Amino acid sequence: RAMGIVREFQDQCDSPIGKLRHVADAMTVEMHAGLASEGGSKLKMIISYVDNLPTGDEEGLFYALDLGGTNFRVIRVHLGGKKDVIKQELEAVSIPPHLMTGSSHELFDFIAAELAKFVGGEDENSHPFPGRHRELGFTFSFPVRQKSIASGTLINWTKGFSIEDVVGEDVVGELTKAMERVGLDMHVATLVNDTVGTLAGGRYYNPDVIAAVVLGTGSNAAYVERANAIPKWHGPLPKSGEMVINMEWGNFWSSHLPLTEYDHVLDVESMNPGEQIFEKMISGMYLAEILRRVMLRMAEEAEFFGDMVPPKLKIPFILRTYHMYTMHDDTSADLKVVGNKLRDILEISNTSLEMRKAIVELCDTIATRGARLSAAGIYGILKKLGRDKVRDGEKQKSVIALDGGLFELYTKFRECMKNTLKELLGEEVSENVVIIHSNDGSGIGAALLAASHSQYLEVEE
Ligand code: BG6
Ligand code: GLC
Repeated sequence: RAMGIVREFQDQCDSPIGKLRHVADAMTVEMHAGLASEGGSKLKMIISYVDNLPTGDEEGLFYALDLGGTNFRVIRVHLGGKKDVIKQELEAVSIPPHLMTGSSHELFDFIAAELAKFVGGEDENSHPFPGRHRELGFTFSFPVRQKSIASGTLINWTKGFSIEDVVGEDVVGELTKAMERVGLDMHVATLVNDTVGTLAGGRYYNPDVIAAVVLGTGSNAAYVERANAIPKWHGPLPKSGEMVINMEWGNFWSSHLPLTEYDHVLDVESMNPGEQIFEKMISGMYLAEILRRVMLRMAEEAEFFGDMVPPKLKIPFILRTYHMYTMHDDTSADLKVVGNKLRDILEISNTSLEMRKAIVELCDTIATRGARLSAAGIYGILKKLGRDKVRDGEKQKSVIALDGGLFELYTKFRECMKNTLKELLGEEVSENVVIIHSNDGSGIGAALLAASHSQYLEVEE
């Protein structure tokens, strides 16, 4: 009975190459629709106001603040021009869970206080120039309707955050007010999404970077678009002719997605039902929660863990994706690690080898589906840019900067994603498509963008 549940789930998760091509085509179609008009698609295709990416010549002392991944981070960067970077980072702090669903004041006061602590501990060499404000690049990894390079209103929260009184507000305004409350004199020079920061950070080191993807707690992508291919952009044509677009691909939906009943119930019971369906199939916050739900069904309907349903298994989000990849990576003959995790996290002891094997199979099914869908998303972007084929014998390099805990730490996920992308592109094209890990690209990227949008630039020129 229990294995019947596993098999049925595996059938529903199947993502053969033909299906992935449909998903990629749908992604391309939605990208066009989202660029055509505001609200034209589930893909928001947000105009980032970043129309100039780092060149490597940036100079000065800048700060970056990164909110929205697993951890909250403050970074200070000395840019020496010629790609000379010295980075000092405050230890990552995890956001206390009660702040994720509390009030705007509480969250922003916490951030401003951490920032003040960091700046307060600096020596005098860390001050930019006498009489100048410190300048900050703010990486805020949620959907924001940008009003300019340094302002934008929150459209909605994702990834377990839910603070009603920030929705619709300018997040830079909220941060600035909180900094004033703690007496911190800092100027926010840029507001960027983490994908946009990762793109900027990637481009700094590699001029062929054309897109960035974050696979972490949440998932999203940004890429460089031709400004005249954005019908909804009514501003002046940028000198570069380009504009970075934050796709917010987590909210992508297509009838071709291999969704199961477990995904459906996870969504209905989530904080944001009906939203971020793609993200809920591929990102770190949700993979292990899908696993828990399938295991619970096996316990309830097929007595997989004995005649009692293990009480811990009923607790949403008790299993985390790092538990999942630890189990998935277990190479011991008796799957000892799997057994230990089941015992430690879920208080399920005395599991048989057969049971542990079934759990590993489930991990594999869920991770494979997520990784293959992520690859299809990337392939969709390459198609939109006409980089999915070799044109006129010309070999054009396309580099994609990746970051996020899932990509970094879930080896099987990462390898499956890369292999699937190769499979989709074919041998010849895949030689010219390169995935790089842009380690903390978004922090450096935000500081670099702050440098190129510094309020003191014109004074110096
Ligand atoms: C980090 C980036 O490495 O990855 C952040 O610097 C990003 O900007 C984060 O938000 C996403 O990954 P996770 O796993 O922390 O959600
Ligand atoms: C969520 C956010 C998005 C962010 C992504 C990765 O999807 O909505 O803005 O880029 O997570 O952190």
